[in-house]
Amino acid sequence: MEQPSPSEEERELDPGGEAPGGWHVRAMRPADLPGVVAIEGEAFTTPWSEETFRSLFDRPPWVLLVLEEEGGASGIAGYAVLGCVMEQGELANIAVRSRDRGRGLGGLLLEQVVQEAVARGVRQLFLEVRMSNTAAAALYTAHGFQEIGVRKNYYEEPREHARVLVRRLPEGCTPPDSGGGGEPLPEAEGGKG
Ligand SMILES: CC(C)(COP(=O)(O)OP(=O)(O)OC[C@H]1O[C@@H](n2cnc3c(N)ncnc32)[C@H](O)[C@@H]1OP(=O)(O)O)[C@@H](O)C(=O)NCCC(=O)NCCS
Repeated sequence: MEQPSPSEEERELDPGGEAPGGWHVRAMRPADLPGVVAIEGEAFTTPWSEETFRSLFDRPPWVLLVLEEEGGASGIAGYAVLGCVMEQGELANIAVRSRDRGRGLGGLLLEQVVQEAVARGVRQLFLEVRMSNTAAAALYTAHGFQEIGVRKNYYEEPREHARVLVRRLPEGCTPPDSGGGGEPLPEAEGGKG
């Protein structure tokens, strides 16, 4: 008999890539929010509130992931938010705790986002990044994203243009409840980058 599928929270995501050992990515839980919001506050000048993250839980277009050390002793080290509508995905948010940057964890998280997007039938994964955010742009380029345009004055604090990037993905499976039934993604609160 087929085993029942684990719930979103129980499911252990496959690390993949040349990930540093001892780290894993899993679905975000409400109890993770204080750690997530702390990283958000140090990473962005227009951070999302805890309520914004909370409002995305249990909504089919949204996939919220966290990165933590095995055993969870050092708390949440990073997170990502992906929105999926049919064949289009949007990486709405990604950050790694400042003390853990530059050791491959952003790449690990990003590849998990890609795997989740593929599993939901996404064929084009979009994102925006500040013109001045060279670290993130380098990460995205290293992971196969290509620039397709610029959104003028997309960001506040400071006002700045965004590069628009896309990564085209191979065909995956499309679970019947994925993609939010074709509803458009709600506008994220403020641009990230
Ligand atoms: C962007 C971010 C998530 C990257 O996380 P990270 O864990 O440092 O990334 P990695 O260590 O996996 O780096 C992967 C690649 O990104 C690039 N990169 C990462 N940090 C870099 C830096 N400071 N300068 C230049 N390139 C950098 C490199 O190409 C690197 O590959 P390499 O180590 O083989 O040279 C992290 O810097 C962060 O949280 N920044 C603040 C929030 C943010 O800007 N989010 C993105 C919004 S669009």
